[in-house]
Amino acid sequence: MDTFAIEGGRPLSGSLRVQGAKNAALPILAASILAEGQFYIYDVPHLKDIEVMLKILTALGARTKHADGSVDLDTTSVSVSHVPDDLMGQMRSSIFLAGPLLARLGEVTISRPGGCLIGERRIDLHLAGLTALGAKIEEAEGYITFRADQLYGTNIFLSFPSVGATENIMMAAVLAKGTTRICNAAREPEIVDLQNFLNAMGARICGAGTDTIEINGVTRLRPVSYRIIPDRIVAGTHLLAVGVSKGHIELTNIIPEHLTALIEVARSCGVEIKTYHDIMEVKSTGNPLAYERIITSPFPGFPTDLQAQLMVFLAQATGTSVIKETIFEGRFKHVNELARMGASIYVDLGSAIIRGGNKLSGTSVEASDLRAGAALVLAGLAAEGTTTVSQIHHIDRGYERLELQLQQLGARISRVSI
Ligand code: UD1
Repeated sequence: MDTFAIEGGRPLSGSLRVQGAKNAALPILAASILAEGQFYIYDVPHLKDIEVMLKILTALGARTKHADGSVDLDTTSVSVSHVPDDLMGQMRSSIFLAGPLLARLGEVTISRPGGCLIGERRIDLHLAGLTALGAKIEEAEGYITFRADQLYGTNIFLSFPSVGATENIMMAAVLAKGTTRICNAAREPEIVDLQNFLNAMGARICGAGTDTIEINGVTRLRPVSYRIIPDRIVAGTHLLAVGVSKGHIELTNIIPEHLTALIEVARSCGVEIKTYHDIMEVKSTGNPLAYERIITSPFPGFPTDLQAQLMVFLAQATGTSVIKETIFEGRFKHVNELARMGASIYVDLGSAIIRGGNKLSGTSVEASDLRAGAALVLAGLAAEGTTTVSQIHHIDRGYERLELQLQQLGARISRVSI
């Protein structure tokens, strides 16, 4: 099992190209089975979740190859409608296969999805959306089977703008008869990327990025070549890493508009940020100022996936900050570990109250999930002495060799196999 060993107290410097977005690549890879033929998808990061998705596509009958950030994918022979249980259990995003397999084969069987343990992570909105399009759903002995000879467009209102449910419904609806309207749709940039990918394949979708998405069904889609957008959460993690390490770096392959909420908070706390096209320069100006109250919320609000990393940054601030987590109820698991490093954080009713300014000291801590793990690495960069982060397989699910990225920026971090 691998761990990270981090020697803190070294400001980050230099330049780094941001990896492609995991959360855009996963639904796009799933959506490829909507057409038969040869796809080339670029900027696909080498991550555990992507590996699992490619294994699932292979088990369904596709031919896949992932090398140097490009996926070469032939979906001509997809014919299996049962997503293998062991793979389904490894990643929540396997639920993305439901919509496209149903649309292509008329039937799909999945087991209940796995993934990060950050809350209840229900799938009721996925099930309700696919039912509204005409799928018959049977659930027995832990398996869910969806069947529909033909899907039909309809109006679907989401009681919460779920990212995954919006994407699943879009993928099922592209080959449905008639028009589907998703109201209160999620507005995340990854949904716009999925729309662009599907439209390149011949779909007729508009409205992604707003709260109403309209999908006019077509009868056939074609394979394409496509480049995935940059990962805004990885970019945001590095931005905050500069804040905690008191560094000065340049990030390339950035879409600044995807990071507006974070940039606003970081600037208010005193971090200097300049953007030019797809480049961002980030410079710490010393200890950050506290930020009175941040509430995680769906895009364009502050992303839950940067909440843990922001908490480490605010633990360095002068003054008290509050973060309210509204998306996932189990997302404060990093708090105890940060407290063991010396941070003063108190959690009450879904809010964390962070009294900034305590010096962090290196110790052994454990990553409980992907973003909590990234936050502990940031804490290690800020701490005096050596921090050891265990259970880093969680971090490997979202960051492509995080230790190499940070080494490139001058951090003293190494992967230790034990
Ligand atoms: C996606 C991202 C994840 C991010 C999250 C919120 C991917 C692969 N993952 O996850 O990194 O943290 O968006 O920005 O893109 N919910 C229901 N019923 C459902 C579906 C969701 O109640 O059927 C609830 C969830 O329990 C959660 C909230 O909605 O409390 C947000 O979930 P959702 O937006 O669906 O997140 P994911 O798509 O799972």
